Amino acid sequence: MLGDHVVNPPVVLAPMAGITNVAFRRLCREQGGGVYVCEMITTRALVERIPKTLKMISFAEDEGFRSLQLYGVDPDVTAAAVRMVGEDGLADHVDLNFGCPVPKVTRRGGGSALPWRRRLFGRIVSQAVAAAKPFGIPLTIKMRKGIDDDHLTYVEAGLAAQEAGVAAVALHARTAEQRYSGKADWDAIATLKQALDVPVLGNGDIWEGSDALRMVEHTGVDGVVVGRGCLGRPWLFADLEAAFTQGAGYRPVLPTLGEVAKIMSRHAELLVDALDDEKHGCADFRKHVAWYLKGFPVGGDLRRSLAMITSLAQLDDLLALLDPSLPFPADALGQPRGRVNAPGKVSLPYGWLDSRDDETVPEGAETEDSGG
Ligand SMILES: Cc1cc2nc3c(=O)[nH]c(=O)nc-3n(C[C@H](O)[C@H](O)[C@H](O)COP(=O)(O)O)c2cc1C
Repeated sequence: MLGDHVVNPPVVLAPMAGITNVAFRRLCREQGGGVYVCEMITTRALVERIPKTLKMISFAEDEGFRSLQLYGVDPDVTAAAVRMVGEDGLADHVDLNFGCPVPKVTRRGGGSALPWRRRLFGRIVSQAVAAAKPFGIPLTIKMRKGIDDDHLTYVEAGLAAQEAGVAAVALHARTAEQRYSGKADWDAIATLKQALDVPVLGNGDIWEGSDALRMVEHTGVDGVVVGRGCLGRPWLFADLEAAFTQGAGYRPVLPTLGEVAKIMSRHAELLVDALDDEKHGCADFRKHVAWYLKGFPVGGDLRRSLAMITSLAQLDDLLALLDPSLPFPADALGQPRGRVNAPGKVSLPYGWLDSRDDETVPEGAETEDSGG
């Protein structure tokens, strides 16, 4: 449940900057049920009504439960942004991002650095919840375990968010220092689930429907949040739905290359539609090509040509060169995809770790929109 909204199957498409736009969400929604979160929106850009930001808040007419992620560091600006979402009817659900590990963001005290400043974190969340309440908008947070293993915040932050009245808490079970490396710590998700009464959503390393079932079993979470696993694999949502409805013996969804090609073509079409421009839509599609073809025996020249398309006709001509009968490559299953970068020391503002109760709003931490 998110507020009054029943989430069935209990699956959430993780917000991913540059990926989870209206086109990708539609492609995923066509595969299975769940909640599909929009790309992250910066609160300051929203309240300033920056045209590019407003354009990013685009939902399809049939998108029943419009889910929006906001990123903010200032309690007042965040509350104003949430109020604007309610007043302008922009979305039905708001999630707050406290997970971004990008140095440009943490260096200024934003994203995954912020929960360490517990009072400031508490104020942002409680003011956001209060702003959402009159509109009946459930407010959730998404966070990491903490800055690093010596500075963990997730249980304390989860309890504070619960106290503030959030509808659910999602945990990406890595520290900011880990970025996307190593394994997500599902034990930490279990610990958080034990500590909270509000629904807990587990995030990290779900590559197949079977992983989702394992996470639920291991942690007792109320639902799962899926990010990189669906890059180039929107049918993962069909796989997840099959897993949740049929249980452990479910039949995995394994498209042939011909079926993958059809989905690629549909994805590019939806992007062209969403961006109102064939050139831009095709350019945006190019980054997905390698993900779609991962593991399939497709030659380098064809891969390169596909990653340089400028028109839908060109895409379809190239897709016609693929062998449609090729089965899904078993060795691409259960494997990480997308970002897997190495861990790195977290850049923080000077003195950040020594001043947990400082409520000063960090400056310049709201200029980025790189997600996380
Ligand atoms: C390209 C990309 C963009 C991301 N953007 C965001 C974002 O805007 N907001 C956010 O909370 N998390 C963002 N994330 C993190 C994911 O939502 C998710 O927490 C993370 O990938 C771990 O889940 P996974 O193992 O299922 O991928 C992003 C991840 C990737 C790979």
